[in-house]
Amino acid sequence: MADFEHVFDTPPEGAAADWTISQNWRAYTEVEHDTWDTLYARQMDILPGRASEAFLKGLGALDLNTGGIPDFALMNPKLKALTGWTVVCVPGLVPDEVFFDHLANRRFPSGQFIRKPDQLDYLQEPDIFHDVFGHVPMLTDPGFADYMQAYGKGGQRAQGLGMLKNLARLYWYTVEFGLIEEAGTLRIYGAGIVSSATETVFALEDPSPNRIAFDLERIMRTDYRIDDFQQVYFVIPSIEALNDATYEDFGPIYDRLKGQSTIPVDAIQPYDRVLTRGTQAYAQKGGRFAA
Ligand code: PHE
Ligand code: FE
Repeated sequence: MADFEHVFDTPPEGAAADWTISQNWRAYTEVEHDTWDTLYARQMDILPGRASEAFLKGLGALDLNTGGIPDFALMNPKLKALTGWTVVCVPGLVPDEVFFDHLANRRFPSGQFIRKPDQLDYLQEPDIFHDVFGHVPMLTDPGFADYMQAYGKGGQRAQGLGMLKNLARLYWYTVEFGLIEEAGTLRIYGAGIVSSATETVFALEDPSPNRIAFDLERIMRTDYRIDDFQQVYFVIPSIEALNDATYEDFGPIYDRLKGQSTIPVDAIQPYDRVLTRGTQAYAQKGGRFAA
């Protein structure tokens, strides 16, 4: 289970009204910078050929491998020039409405801390490696940048309508664990995958999960698990297609969803376009953010 001990009702001491804190880059230790370098090198061994072109291109454009944890003061001008996004530091998980407000204004909230050297493969809360290495490269893509902002606005709306649970599944199965069809093969773009050495390989090569073509309403009905590798991944044909599919007014969809049951993670529906049918033989502790 996720550990929500860092979620407060009001900004903790030292945080601004919007929950942001200073990155305080100078305070990171050598060990912490080394952790970033280790994780970065490990991912770069396996991401080429597996991560989407948008991700790899963004990673290159941001220059996140200059030695240690990126300094937001140097990274943000590059990101801002590309898509108008910036990254801000927050003390941990923040309340939904705070998160949505940042996204709606093209600010991505990142954890300030980095995992301990003995937690390289498993942690329950997003750290700066997951948030920056995992999420920020995709924010350099103009289409994905728009999608994330639209999600923030959509989140505010869904919250008012009491439909956040359904909308959160869309985030889970795209932003965190999305696959994309590219050059006739499957690639990963979800931050929870690209920031995890084990899930990077698992998501594409393990025989156990189902890989199903993106279907908005189906996703919003599908359960997800946060304590293991995914048993189902949804595949978008392109970022443009994702934007087209989510541009429509979700109001009528929310109305329909109210009467419908939740689809279990490992279920296949008769109408699913299944790209890979899983064996479901595999279950191993994966970790939510950085397996
Ligand atoms: N179109 C959605 C709505 O009407 C907003 C949205 C866009 C949500 C993109 C998520 C992603 O609520
Ligand atoms: Fe994330």
